[in-house]
Amino acid sequence: MPFAHVTGWGMYVPEPVLTNDDIAKMVETSDEWIRDRTGIRERHIAREHEFPSTLGVEAAIKALQVANLAPTDLDLIICTSSSPEYIFPATACIIQDQIGATKAGAFDLQAACTGFIFATNMAAQAIRSGSIKNALVIGTEVLSRFVNWKDRNTCILFGDGAGAFVLQASDKPGGVLSAVMHSDGSGADSLTLLGGGTHYPASEATIHEGKHFVQMDGKEVFRFATRVMGRAVIETLEQVHMTTNDIQWIIPHQANYRIIETAAKYLKMPLDKFVINVDRYGNTSTASIPIATVESIQKGQLKTGDKAVFVGFGGGLTWGAMVIEWTGPIAAKKNVHPEQYRQFARLRSLIRRAIRFIEGLFSRRTL
Ligand SMILES: CC(C)(COP(=O)(O)OP(=O)(O)OC[C@H]1O[C@@H](n2cnc3c(N)ncnc32)[C@H](O)[C@@H]1OP(=O)(O)O)[C@@H](O)C(=O)NCCC(=O)NCCS
Repeated sequence: MPFAHVTGWGMYVPEPVLTNDDIAKMVETSDEWIRDRTGIRERHIAREHEFPSTLGVEAAIKALQVANLAPTDLDLIICTSSSPEYIFPATACIIQDQIGATKAGAFDLQAACTGFIFATNMAAQAIRSGSIKNALVIGTEVLSRFVNWKDRNTCILFGDGAGAFVLQASDKPGGVLSAVMHSDGSGADSLTLLGGGTHYPASEATIHEGKHFVQMDGKEVFRFATRVMGRAVIETLEQVHMTTNDIQWIIPHQANYRIIETAAKYLKMPLDKFVINVDRYGNTSTASIPIATVESIQKGQLKTGDKAVFVGFGGGLTWGAMVIEWTGPIAAKKNVHPEQYRQFARLRSLIRRAIRFIEGLFSRRTL
């Protein structure tokens, strides 16, 4: 049975930064309050022309560059987002077209902030089954467009950004070693975005009622997160007969510094074993784990051969964790340049659209 190794990683955040002081000009809050209760100092906010797909494409190309893998060699793309571009088509398909991943099947996976854990596990399972060799997993968010900037309970928390992993099959042991996925729909009400679906189709009333914004019971979500995080870490470690002593890093979903602190206490682990960057990005939902991973590699923390636990939680309610033995890029015979495929992809997309248009004209005539 092949192993599923993470061989590429990339992140992208939009340039504009919104500080706590900036938010204090919009709602009644303060830098001190936000830092004290969440650990967040600032977050990045997408510009008008940026979308989950544009952020996701940047992160994906970087991940493919690290893996030295051509987009045309991808078999599968899973995109996970709490702020997808549309209900359909899937953001994954837009990214597939833009990076030129011509043979990849692409779909979106929705598990709120746990999405990246679930999606990485699904991609790893597809590789482990032997049915595919190369997969791309992307977590991408423009949550700033779903946030009510008049609601101080939520607007202080979220930020925009994207992160991506390339997973590849190899006979060498390592990569994704174990994973747990959990859900509890009885807690669905505590973190929602209700408007625009079939229960509350977009209407003047739904807009008036603010149903197109993130709604959250902060205290309830806090209690849930602190309850499940540590347990999920232990559970996934037990699957591979490991303890916290066997791992070098925990890379948690970056929602709130105090939640991570509580998990560290539960696990009796020092906080410096946790990768934490919530202070500079806020909660980027599905993108937070890959962004934290990329930064930890850049800082020289996470290294080849290290074992790490990734752990996430979010709306649904959902939570999950996985143990990964970190690999790094597989040595390749020749250098590929994934970014060059992007130019061809644009041209290819235009040509396919033109062909579809012309075919449409002819088929209308023959009908
Ligand atoms: C949202 C959160 C930071 C609020 O912190 P908290 O300590 O629970 O604060 P509370 O909601 O109890 O509010 C305490 C007081 O601060 C006030 N407050 C709330 N938000 C505030 C803000 N941004 N600035 C200043 N005061 C604020 C409240 O109105 C309340 O005032 P009151 O006591 O006069 O009623 C915290 O609950 C949290 O992080 N929850 C988890 C959220 C999360 O991670 N969601 C995503 C999961 S993927």
